[in-house]
Amino acid sequence: MSIAEAYEMPPAHQPLVPPYPPRAPDSMSTLSRLAAIRNSTIGSWTQQAYEDDVIRGRFFGRNSFIFNTPDAIRHVLIENYENYTRTPAGIRVLRPMLGEGLLLAEGRAWKHQRRTLAPAFTPRAVMTLLPHMVSAIDETIATLDARHDTPVDLREVMQRMTLEIAGRTMFSFGMARHGAALRDFVMEYGNRLARPHLLDLLLPLGWPSPQDISRAFFRRRWTRFVQALIAERRAAGKSEGAPPRDLFELMVAARDPETGVAFTDAQLGDQVATMILAGHETTATALFWALYLLALDPAIQDEVAAEVRDIAANSTAGLDRLAFTRAVIDETMRLYPPAFLIARAAAGPDTVAGMQVAPKDVVLIAPWLLHRHEKIWPEPNAFIPARFLPGAPPPDRFAYLPFGVGPRVCIGAHFAIVEATLALARIVGHFRVDLEDRSPVMPVGVVTTQPDRSPLFRLTRR
Ligand code: HEM
Repeated sequence: MSIAEAYEMPPAHQPLVPPYPPRAPDSMSTLSRLAAIRNSTIGSWTQQAYEDDVIRGRFFGRNSFIFNTPDAIRHVLIENYENYTRTPAGIRVLRPMLGEGLLLAEGRAWKHQRRTLAPAFTPRAVMTLLPHMVSAIDETIATLDARHDTPVDLREVMQRMTLEIAGRTMFSFGMARHGAALRDFVMEYGNRLARPHLLDLLLPLGWPSPQDISRAFFRRRWTRFVQALIAERRAAGKSEGAPPRDLFELMVAARDPETGVAFTDAQLGDQVATMILAGHETTATALFWALYLLALDPAIQDEVAAEVRDIAANSTAGLDRLAFTRAVIDETMRLYPPAFLIARAAAGPDTVAGMQVAPKDVVLIAPWLLHRHEKIWPEPNAFIPARFLPGAPPPDRFAYLPFGVGPRVCIGAHFAIVEATLALARIVGHFRVDLEDRSPVMPVGVVTTQPDRSPLFRLTRR
C-alpha cells in the first residue's frame, strides 16, 4: 500500500519534505563532535542513529546510550524510572531558574509536588484557563491585523504570545507591565547562561564552575522578580466562592492528597518559574514550526482554514472537533519536537536492551531520532498530518514522545495541546500565511529545537 493510500491522501498531493540538517559524518574527532554538539546536538547525529536500536558513546569518561526501541524506553522511563534522574549538567544549567520546582525535583519531594500539582493540570482545570488563552491569542491577531501588509517575524510574535498566555493563565493579569522584564530575564538566561560550558560538564555538581557564579547572581535577581509577581497577584485577592481564576489560585489551593500540606511561598515561586519557563518557549517553538510548515504547504494550510471555517468560526466549544488542526500540531511535533532530547543519569547499575548501564552513565531518549527513525515511520522526513487523523493507524506508544512518557511525562501536555491547537486555528482562520523569505530554515538543537534564524512571513487577511 502506498503512503497516499495508507493515509487517504488525495493522489495528486506530493508530501512536502521540509528542511532538516545533513547527517554528521561517521568518523569525527572527539573535539569536532563536541563542537558539533555545542552547536546543535541534532546536527551531531550520524545516519546510523536513525537506523540503529542503540547508539553507544563515551562522554567525559562515562558511557552514554541513546535508546531507540520501545522496550528500552519503557524500561528507562516507566519500569525503572526511579533509577534515572536529571543529569548533573541539566541540573546545573536549570536550577538557577527553576529552583526546586517540579522539573528538577527528585524522589519523595518530586512525588509530593507531582501529586499536589496534578489537579491543576487536568483537562477540566485547563478548560477554566481557556478565556485567558483566547484573549491573548485574539489580541495578538488584532495587532497582526493592524499591520497585516508588512512582513512579520512570527517566531518573535509566537514567543511574546505564549509568554503572555503563560502570564495570564498563571496570574490573570496581562503581562503589559511585566512582560518585557520577564522576557529580558528569559533571553538573558538563554543567551548567556543556559548553554553548558566545558567546566559545567566536567566539574562535580558541588563545585561551582565560573558560570555557576554568574548563575547564582542571576538567581537572586530572578527570585526577587518572581516573588514580586506573586505579591502583586496576592494583592489582587482570591475569587471567593467562584472557581479559581488562574493557575496561581489552583496552585495556592493545592494540597498534597496524602498529607494535606500546601506549598510554601518559596516553593510556589519555584513552581511559578518552572511552569512559565517549561511551558512558553516549547509551545512557541511548536507554533513557529507549524506556521512555517503551513506556509511551505499551502494545500495543507487550506485544509486547516476550511476546517476552522466549518467549525463555527473558531468557537472554543469546537476545540475537540478541530481534528485536522490538531493533526497538524501533532505532525509538527513529530518533525520538530520542541524537546528533542530527554536526558537521564543512572543512579544505580541496570541492564537495558542487553547493555550494562553503570551508575552515572548518561541515558538518552531522543524524540528527534525516534520521530524520524527509518524503522518506525514510512517517509519519516515528510510532512503528513494525516498520520495523526482519527482512523489512521496509531503510532506506537513509545515511538512518538513529544511530551515524554511515564511518571515524569510533561504535566502541561494537555495545556500545551489546547493552547497550540487554538492558536493555530485562530491565526490560520484569520490570515493566509506565506513566507516572505523562502531560503530554508534549519532546526538547531539547543535546549529546544530552535530555527537557525527567524524568517519573515507575510500575512494576508482571509
Ligand atoms: C509544546 C509544548 C511542550 C512540550 C513539547 C513539552 C515537553 C516536555 C517534555 C519532553 C518533558 C520531560 C519529560 C521527561 O523528562 O521525561 C516535559 C516536562 C515538563 N513540562 Fe512540558 N512541554 C510542553 C509544554 C509545557 C507546559 C505548557 C507546561 C506548564 C504549563 C509544562 C511543564 C512541564 C513540567 C513542570 C515538566 C516536568 C514534569 C516532571 O518532571 O514531573 N510543559 N515537558
